Amino acid sequence: MTTIRQTSGPPATQILGVGSYQPERIVTNDELSQIMDTSDQWIRDRVGIVERRFAAKDERLVDMAVEAGSKALSDAGLEPSDVDTVIVPNCTMPSPIPNAAAQVADRIGVKAAGAFDLNAACAGFCYALGVASDLVKSGSSQRVLVIGAEKLTDVVDPVDRANAIIFADGAGAAVVGPADEPRIGPVVWGSAGDLVDTIYMREHKYIYQEGQSVFRWATTKIAPIAQRAVEAAGLSLADIDVLIPHQANLRIVEAIGKKLKAKGAREDLVVADDIVHSGNTSSASIPLALDHMRQKGRVSSGDVVLAVGFGAGLSYAGQIFVAP
Ligand code: UT7
Repeated sequence: MTTIRQTSGPPATQILGVGSYQPERIVTNDELSQIMDTSDQWIRDRVGIVERRFAAKDERLVDMAVEAGSKALSDAGLEPSDVDTVIVPNCTMPSPIPNAAAQVADRIGVKAAGAFDLNAACAGFCYALGVASDLVKSGSSQRVLVIGAEKLTDVVDPVDRANAIIFADGAGAAVVGPADEPRIGPVVWGSAGDLVDTIYMREHKYIYQEGQSVFRWATTKIAPIAQRAVEAAGLSLADIDVLIPHQANLRIVEAIGKKLKAKGAREDLVVADDIVHSGNTSSASIPLALDHMRQKGRVSSGDVVLAVGFGAGLSYAGQIFVAP
């Protein structure tokens, strides 16, 4: 019988470093109210956003991913040659080929990288983190650079007040590598394809969503999924220091935090609110929030973080990791 050799890797993985990038241009709610029928008050009350960043016309998703990825590598104290695989979760590449990951890997200087994009919309980062961790554990990759990057302003009708006030641009990255002790938990993921029509983009033009249906789904279904991720890691909610849900809407984020506290999470649980100054950046929102919270001292090395992403699909994924 033919014997096919198998690879095997280290028993455990960890996040070795993180980095993020946001475009320079800050867009306030007042600026948006000048071009559409909305107001600073409505946006703050309903979504919790005060300002967001929009990329320049000639600034591409790939450019932002290169910045975030390079910073994550230097945060980890690694060289491009230490990485062999690059994953770019995103849903806003202007065309499907060439993918973002191969371009980003080349620009960063990762030679002959395994490079692929992963589209699970706003759940993309948690999906990719799960894939990266399993690639390392299986021995398929040594170290993986995961970069959530989005240029949502390319796919949002600039005067559609339902979407243009929410979405923004940016990138956030994490380097995943081997560990002696498990510092990334199993990913819990899934999808609700019966709700596929609630968020969509037709013919690569603009994003539309049935905001209220998605809002109801997110505020009822995501907390139990987050709880499953905690159980999958063999922990209890009281062990969690930091909660980073996808930054879709501050009201959704707060509802998830409240539900988890009612189920046993600590009152001093730190809940990410990066959406206030970053907007909803889809695949980039979780690593962006993580990096910003580290910079502000809201997340410290060794903290137990619960991340959960959710969005079009409707797709969701969550896992525990220890902050680097
Ligand atoms: O990241 C991917 C996953 N996406 C999400 O998780 C998004 C989930 N959904 C949401 O966050 C919210 O549903 C939205 C922020 C999208 C909308 O907020 P809402 O509180 O659900 O508003 P709504 O769509 O129910 O609209 C309420 C009212 C409507 O007016 P009428 O019909 O009551 O007169 C809207 O026309 O608010 C109006 N409206 C606005 N008014 C001022 C909708 N957008 C705006 C706006 N400014 N930007």
